[in-house]
Amino acid sequence: MSETPRLLRALAGETLDRPPIWFMRQAGRSLPEYRELRTRAKDFMAFCFNPEMAAEATLQPMRRFPMDGAIVFADILLLPQALGQEVWFEAGEGPRLGALPQIEALRDAVEGSTAKLSSIGETLRRVRAELEPDRALIGFAGAPWTVATYMIEGRGSQREMARTYAYENPEKLDSLLDVLVDSTARYLVMQAKAGAQALKLFESWAENLAEDVFERIVIGPHIRIIEQVRAAGVNVPFIGFPRGCGALVENYAARVPVQGVALDTQASFAMGKRIQSGGKTIQGALDNLLLRTGGPALDRRVDALIEAWNGGPYIFNLGHGVMPDTPIEHIVRVVERVTGKPAKAFGAA
Ligand code: CP3
Repeated sequence: MSETPRLLRALAGETLDRPPIWFMRQAGRSLPEYRELRTRAKDFMAFCFNPEMAAEATLQPMRRFPMDGAIVFADILLLPQALGQEVWFEAGEGPRLGALPQIEALRDAVEGSTAKLSSIGETLRRVRAELEPDRALIGFAGAPWTVATYMIEGRGSQREMARTYAYENPEKLDSLLDVLVDSTARYLVMQAKAGAQALKLFESWAENLAEDVFERIVIGPHIRIIEQVRAAGVNVPFIGFPRGCGALVENYAARVPVQGVALDTQASFAMGKRIQSGGKTIQGALDNLLLRTGGPALDRRVDALIEAWNGGPYIFNLGHGVMPDTPIEHIVRVVERVTGKPAKAFGAA
């Protein structure tokens, strides 16, 4: 039996008897033990910056479900905070950010930003110490364009203001993306040194970009981050998630030196297979709304994804994160179906 976690074997390009599985947002409001833990933190940012609580939140789904990967509990918006832009979460609404600082101020903050995120390193060390050796620990960061959309708009949105900014101020946007490339690379190096065995770049808002713009603001920054992380001597595999970019994900897979490409719900079986043939592992792409809905259609889709994609290197996951009101029984059903191992619906933690 191999000691290497199944998730890392898949990212190394192995085709496995069954795919490794983990879910985006597997920790969070779908779990009652998370909701209980969350009440003990002053606010969401304080929760993320508390290694004891964040490690506990990371491990909660690992106790319930036989997931092959744990993703560190944190948020993509911790980085703008570390760069000096105010970030807070409005209860029931979502993230809010203060005014975008001057680019020079952001640039000056890059060097000190990783130290401000050191508690996430502590969370990773705590989780790695408790997690079984055959389960992989995943670190992550928001990708530059996605983080920039929040920094520019000050909140979650349809991102029309950010896209307009990209056209009106191309040089300013490039400078902002450069700051984010440099600070994200440092942050990810720190995470790998603290125990992250794979690193994921969340480009959650890669939709509606023309091919040339996608090349400049998504593909380019992702390549530069990975080059900087490699230059720092870190060799852990990368998963890139350019969510919503449609057929451009094939350009992404061909150009960006990631080991894994996370696909969203609309990815076709044929496209996934072409990306595998190009030498990359794929991850995805069960609809999070189908997971919430459950029933025979869910079982059929799980089987179809495995049938289509497990002939090559494949990691079972969703096309986007678990919805907070997803019945736990549905998660149990999918995880048991994929792994053949029992999970706990009730009374866990
Ligand atoms: O289990 C995991 O996936 C790890 C933890 C994780 C969180 N956020 C915790 C979280 C991860 C990987 C993220 C990434 C993240 N954060 C993304 C990219 C992934 C994606 O879903 O597209 C984005 C866009 C954010 C920004 C963000 N954080 C928003 C827009 C929101 C509010 C929306 C909402 O669902 O309320 C958050 C808050 C957030 N991040 C929560 C959690 C568990 C919910 C807040 C709470 O518990 O009070």
